[in-house]
Amino acid sequence: MAQHDGKQKFAGSLNSAMIDGPEGVAAQQYANRFGEPGYCDTAHIYVAQHYEGYSAENQECWQTLYDRQMAYLEACASEVYLSGARSIRLVRDHIPYLEGPQSINTYLKRLTGWQSCAVPGYLPAKAFFACLARREFPTTVVIRPKESLDYLPEPDIFHDVFGHVPLHADPVFADFLQTYGRAASTTNDDSHVERLARLFWFTVEFGLIREGGTIKLYGSGLISSPGESRHALESKDVERRPFDLETVCATSFEIDHYQPILYVLESFDQLRDAMNTYALRLLNGNVAVGA
Ligand SMILES: [Fe+2]
Repeated sequence: MAQHDGKQKFAGSLNSAMIDGPEGVAAQQYANRFGEPGYCDTAHIYVAQHYEGYSAENQECWQTLYDRQMAYLEACASEVYLSGARSIRLVRDHIPYLEGPQSINTYLKRLTGWQSCAVPGYLPAKAFFACLARREFPTTVVIRPKESLDYLPEPDIFHDVFGHVPLHADPVFADFLQTYGRAASTTNDDSHVERLARLFWFTVEFGLIREGGTIKLYGSGLISSPGESRHALESKDVERRPFDLETVCATSFEIDHYQPILYVLESFDQLRDAMNTYALRLLNGNVAVGA
């Protein structure tokens, strides 16, 4: 996702010309004011993908990342993720199209109604939540430079599309993520915003799930990172806890090293149901933390 807690754009040989033109500047300015009177239409946040802007090196980076990670994921990722990747026709040959008949959005639309929408940079929380509430996923379109294949602190299209979007093809996860956006949009309470950020972190970004008695990967931060994915499944230093909404929302996280605590779902139904419960509490005004 175009995360709402980051502050900097990429450095190095990033193909930033794709997003730094007047269209991108206007969209970012609108996003920064989202929620003010007259700034409530998510359509103004989005930009064109400008696919012609990808260089041969960009395409090569996608192929290298795809090959390296998908070979591992075939055995270690959730079947829901792998099935979603097939359903949206995620392929190694080229950076995914967000627009047009061969785009991932064409397939997603038919499956769950979610859409992957290009954004010029980071979105503030209000804008980000509003997009999710509409089944629109703010998507970074630029890709990391080849000098940074192994690690990049910011999201790029490999993280956002390869890592996140396949799960959006699953009806249960699709409902969960929209409910998350709706719930987060209803509260201005900082304590709930923090709890919801933790929920996002330990599920959407770094979630594990048990399938057929084996722990598998589904969080995008694991799916899109060779180092983090192996650490999550293989390291003795990782505490893999059973998912529990209250425990997750009370667990703080740090972003600059491999995760020492991860939470394991038993099913995506469990996640959807927990999110529905939380959303009802917010919508009914029963908003005491821990209630
Ligand atoms: Fe992400």
